[in-house]
Parts: sequence; structure tokens; C-alpha cells
Amino acid sequence: MEITLALIKPHVLRNTYAMQQIRALIAQNFTVLDQKEVHITKELSAKFYAEHRGKFFYHRLTSFMNSGPCYALILQSEACIKKWRGLLGPTKVFRAVYSDPDCIRALYGLSDTRNACHGSDSEESAMREIGILFPEFKLDAVSREVKKKT
Ligand code: CDP
Ligand code: MG
Repeated sequence: MEITLALIKPHVLRNTYAMQQIRALIAQNFTVLDQKEVHITKELSAKFYAEHRGKFFYHRLTSFMNSGPCYALILQSEACIKKWRGLLGPTKVFRAVYSDPDCIRALYGLSDTRNACHGSDSEESAMREIGILFPEFKLDAVSREVKKKT
């Protein structure tokens, strides 16, 4: 069993139909360990997107993430990092639309930046990102549980 961080980006949180569809997909595939609305301020972005600092899209990305509330969830399932990223599809929406038309990014993404949702890309990223957005979440207890069950 694994855990991952899913983050629903601002334009999707404002779209009731998209939220219903994504919530249903999440309920079918994962256990939700915690969830909340979060405001990704520039300060939070600086930590969360540290690996992208200096890239040409960094300002565009952090301004968009700060443009309204996001919705963060801690998901759990077997191989959930790969599973959630599979449901998201490719980073670039124009590619997603052609290669995987039913994926979340093809259905609800609007551009390279407004690509609907985020998913952690590794166990380390998941721990780091959950630590940033859910500082109160007891990661130690979960990873002990995860180890016991696997
Ligand atoms: O989100 P993912 O891990 O698939 O992609 P990333 O390469 O880690 O990029 C992080 C985020 O930056 C993406 O989800 C996009 O929102 C944004 N991005 C962008 O605005 N323009 C790009 N050319 C690439 C990424
Ligand atoms: Mg990434």
C-alpha cells in the first residue's frame, strides 16, 4: 500500500461537474486519508514547486496556483502514485487529448499550466508534498502501517 498527494487545481475546483466526476473516480480507486481546501500562496508554491524554480513556466504556474483555492487529498491504494498519475494522463493537455482522451487532463485541462490536477511522481515527492500541504498529518504512523501491511 502506498500514499500519494492529489491536488485539484483552481479552475477545476470551480467546476461542479468536473469535481463530481473526479470525486467519483477517486472513490472508485482510492481510500481518502485526508482532504481539504488549500490556498497555494506564493510562499507555499516556492516550497511545493521548488524543483521548477527558474524554469520558463515557473511564474505562470505559481501565479495560476495562487489564483483561487485548490483541493488537496491524501490518497491510498496499491501502487497509487502510478495509478493516480495514470488517471491524470500526460502533463501536456494537447498531448493528453490525442493519446488518452478519457484521462482527467484531456477532459478538464485547459492548457500546459491549467492541466487540471497534480499527482506526486515518487514516494519521496509524496512524503515531501504531503508534509507541505498537510503538516498536521501523521506521516510516520502511516508509513509504519504501510510497512506492516506490505
Ligand atoms: O504535473 P507533472 O508532474 O505532470 O508535470 P511537471 O513537469 O512536474 O510540471 C509541473 C506543473 O508545471 C505541470 O503540472 C503544469 O501545471 C506546469 N507546467 C507548465 O505550466 N508548462 C510546462 N511547459 C510544463 C509544466
Ligand atoms: Mg511533477
